[in-house]
Formats: sequence, C-alpha cells, structure tokens
Amino acid sequence: MFVDEIRQQLQRDPAESDAAAPISHDETAPRIAVYDSVTAPPRVLSVPDTHLPDLIDALASKTYDLARQQGSRLPYTVLREVIENLIHAWFSDVVITILDDGNTIRIADRGPGIGDKAKAFRPGFSTAGPELKRFIKGVGSGLPIAKESLGLMEGMLDIEDNLGQGTVVTLKLPPTPAVQPPAPSPRPLADLSERQLKMLSLLLELGPVGPSRIGRELSISASTSYRDLVALEALGMVASGAGGRRSITKDGLHYLDRVL
Ligand SMILES: Nc1ncnc2c1ncn2[C@@H]1O[C@H](COP(=O)(O)OP(=O)(O)OP(=O)(O)O)[C@@H](O)[C@H]1O
Ligand SMILES: [Mg+2]
Repeated sequence: MFVDEIRQQLQRDPAESDAAAPISHDETAPRIAVYDSVTAPPRVLSVPDTHLPDLIDALASKTYDLARQQGSRLPYTVLREVIENLIHAWFSDVVITILDDGNTIRIADRGPGIGDKAKAFRPGFSTAGPELKRFIKGVGSGLPIAKESLGLMEGMLDIEDNLGQGTVVTLKLPPTPAVQPPAPSPRPLADLSERQLKMLSLLLELGPVGPSRIGRELSISASTSYRDLVALEALGMVASGAGGRRSITKDGLHYLDRVL
C-alpha cells in the first residue's frame, strides 16, 4: 500500500506532485529501530508520511536526531544522501537500524537491489530517470560523496544485498572517544634556598627541634634560622609544635623526595 502510493507519486504529473498526499498508516511505512543496548529489544518508530519530499525530510531528520541522542557524530549530509537513495527502491519495506551509540546506522530496503555495487560508488553513475530527478539531483553523486566523507572520519560505507531482495547500506564511524578528565598538573616545586633545603634535611634527621639548635647546626644566627623556618612553615613544609619546636611535614618530605 505504502509503496504503491510512492510509485503513483513518481508517475504522477510533476504539476500535481506538490500536493500533499494523504498520510498512510500502512505497516510497510519506513521504520526506525533504535538499540539503546545490545541486549534490549529496540524501540521501533514509524515514519508514515507519503508525500515524497516530506518523507525524505522526516526520515532523514528523525534518524539524525535519534542517532545524535545516542552520541552519534555522523554528518547529516551523509545520512541524507543514503536516505534519499531509498527513492530508487520506492521506499519499499524500509528499516533503519541505529546501533553502537549511534555510530552504526544500517539502512535496508526491499527494492530492486544494486547489481553493480562498485559502479554505484563512482561519481556520475546513476539510474535516475526523469521521474526521480523531480525529487533528487540524479547525477550519481550521493554514494561517492557519502563514502568519501565517512572515510575522512575514519569510518566506512558498505553496500550489501538484503536477504531475499533489496539493499542494505551500512554507515559506520569509530566509537565516540570517551572524554578524559584533564590530568592534575603536578604542583610546581617551590624555589628553596640551599640553606632552607639543609634545614629540611636536618629536621628530618633530628626530629622536632627549635630555631636555636638549627642555627647552631648550620652555623647561622638564631634569628636567621627563625626567619627561614617561618618561610618554610608558610609553604606548609614545616610545622610548629610544643615549645616552638619545628618538625618536617608530609609536604616537606615530598619536596625532599623530589629534589634529592
Ligand atoms: N537503495 C537503493 N536501491 C537501489 N538502487 C540504489 C539504491 N541506492 C543507490 N542505488 C543505485 O546507485 C546509484 C548511485 O547512487 P548515487 O546516490 O551515487 O546517485 P543517484 O542517487 O543516482 O544521484 P544523486 O545522489 O546525485 O541524486 C543510483 O543511481 C541507483 O542506481
Ligand atoms: Mg543518491
């Protein structure tokens, strides 16, 4: 029923072709099967419009939207070319399958099939007669452009015979890369003086000690020792304890680890 209406439209006088045909609720209208997961049965939607230009628009945009929702990166123009080509099969028993997060789309029909598939991929090869050219360009550009575009995206376009009769066109893109969170950048190393570095090593060796002991060990005044310890404390590498004693912190140890 559905295919008859499409065929009649193709044969009708071009002047009449713009009048919208009645909407068919035929079960042979194009269907889109969306697989949300590989183990669940697909959601099946029907696109029953029989006014040819509207049918092509509706089927292309519906498929594109559903595939996008699954995460597909397939270009609209590629999808549109292959869906337009269903006109060569009078939109007979069309099933569009959306798989692999929208990155595999299979467009199947039960039309006449494509005898010479290699030729169909060459620019300029077309069987479109005047009746089809009212609806498509008909210059033999669709398949070569679609194949080339997918190739540039490291994908592929494949044509096979459907079981029994007709054509199955598979459009495939590599899986959508998962978005990686940016790696945390390592904290830049603080610029410590030679003396401050010695202080950290000393604190590691001696355990908690006061500024005067450090001063004595490094042969510097207690006030210089105190000033450096305050600076190291501000950097989180040294902590004050009971009686003003200083000890090395985890950050201090980490710093020594990285520079020594
Ligand atoms: N689903 C199909 N069923 C039967 N034949 C098809 C199908 N898809 C493509 N073809 C055949 O492959 C040929 C080449 O297709 P292609 O899309 O490259 O060109 P076209 O559709 O004829 O013209 P254009 O895409 O420029 O409008 C078609 O002319 C037709 O013979
Ligand atoms: Mg075409």
